[in-house]
Amino acid sequence: MRSRGALLQVPFGEGEVSKKRFDDPKWAAGQAISLDYNNCMTEFVGDQGLGASDLEDLAPRLAAAHPELAEARRSGSLAFMDLPYQTQVLASVRQVAKPLLEWCWDFVVLGIGGSALGARALHQALCHPQYNRFPLARRQHRPALWVLDNVDPDNFHGMLDGLELRRTAFNVISKSGSTAETLAQFLFAYHLLQGRLGAAKAREHFVVTTDPEKGNLRRLAAQEGFPSLSVPPLVGGRFSVLTQVGLLPAAMVGIDLEELLAGARFMDQRLQSPEYHHNPAYCLAALYYLFALKARNILVIMPYATALTGMADWFCQLWAESLGKKQDLQGREGRAGTTPVKAVGATDQHSQLQLYMEGPQDKLITFLEVGKFQHQLEIPDLFPDMEGLHYLGGHSLNELLQAEQKATAFNLAKAGRPNLTLRLPEINAFTIGQLIYLLEVVTVVAASLLGVNPLDQPGVEGGKQTAYGLMGRPGFEDKRREMEEGPPKMEKYLIS
Ligand code: PA5
Repeated sequence: MRSRGALLQVPFGEGEVSKKRFDDPKWAAGQAISLDYNNCMTEFVGDQGLGASDLEDLAPRLAAAHPELAEARRSGSLAFMDLPYQTQVLASVRQVAKPLLEWCWDFVVLGIGGSALGARALHQALCHPQYNRFPLARRQHRPALWVLDNVDPDNFHGMLDGLELRRTAFNVISKSGSTAETLAQFLFAYHLLQGRLGAAKAREHFVVTTDPEKGNLRRLAAQEGFPSLSVPPLVGGRFSVLTQVGLLPAAMVGIDLEELLAGARFMDQRLQSPEYHHNPAYCLAALYYLFALKARNILVIMPYATALTGMADWFCQLWAESLGKKQDLQGREGRAGTTPVKAVGATDQHSQLQLYMEGPQDKLITFLEVGKFQHQLEIPDLFPDMEGLHYLGGHSLNELLQAEQKATAFNLAKAGRPNLTLRLPEINAFTIGQLIYLLEVVTVVAASLLGVNPLDQPGVEGGKQTAYGLMGRPGFEDKRREMEEGPPKMEKYLIS
């Protein structure tokens, strides 16, 4: 087994290399994410593919979207695009993290959707797979990270059950400060800690991340004296991973925040060209849009790295909530959006792939490929007289995983199934910062092509409001009535 670092090095994002490696242009260039869309084109997938002229025909619209995007950014409505430059935020994040790091063994994020998925994705991508299970010393005295993202009582109970509450801190994250799931998680945890530790001590275990001025959580932070961080008001939940929302949990587990933001800045610089063939975000958005027009309504994101599973979940939410819209910007009925689906290579080759290869021609597959893993695991050559095993000896698991990905991409193309590959030279904070930024911009460019607003989520709000009504929140009585007055369930459609 060859390994570039200690096998159990934690976290992956920091350690043996200089923190400022991203200042070296040569190193940064070597870490650039690349996009290979050969397998989207007719030369490789036949008439299911795109011709070069399809992209060329769209080029004027992309070029026109370029100044519009720049203007929206200047006006602040795409504030997420400037987050990588707001490095001053790191000081406030560290100020909150520092005292917690002195005593905290477990750090629990109480949040949901855009207030949870980014933190989980960063943790999964940039910390050791066994990070949470390591003893403290091996985690360099940093806490384990738990991201609930649900109110499943058994899951919540089970997670709390395993924690030493005297050593547990809770980060309550809600931009609106009104999300029922998050507030219920908070109430439960706060009451539990008050009972176990007493009211005064319990207060020290909570940190709030919310709007700087408005909402229940902001009020609560002031009233209870919780330390707090602010979510920039113009950055929506699913675009907030590079704000205090994602950065505090990331800081707690030792992720290199400077490198993360540097990666996002690096990508931003690459996205300055109005020409799609020099701009990976425009090119990717164009491909997604053109295939949606060809009724490829399912967008599969398939990382060939377990560590990127959380990134795929994060992207699915970003894409679905931003683009799934009933109305276009002029208020016309449109029904935009394609359905994002996460698959993981090589695992889903043995689960989903049959469908992708031979099922309906309604999918576009995006592979996330990793050039170089942290570890190189050689496959031993143990049974020379058994051909079915012997051929693997002398290769590595790395080679096998890459061969699986290349073979899948090739065979899909051979079967006329379009696919493309985003290649990360390595998984590190710099490439993850690039990937986050790239996919966020892809999403807003796709929204611009579709003519929808990527920043609202009226469908989600509707569900939240009905749930408030059902839970008896004052002001939402009509929502409860609306449900109660709906048609009663019919016996003939029930099987029990
Ligand atoms: O992206 C979004 O806006 C949503 O997914 C929100 O993040 C989610 O609904 C949670 O909202 P809040 O952070 O206000 O609790």
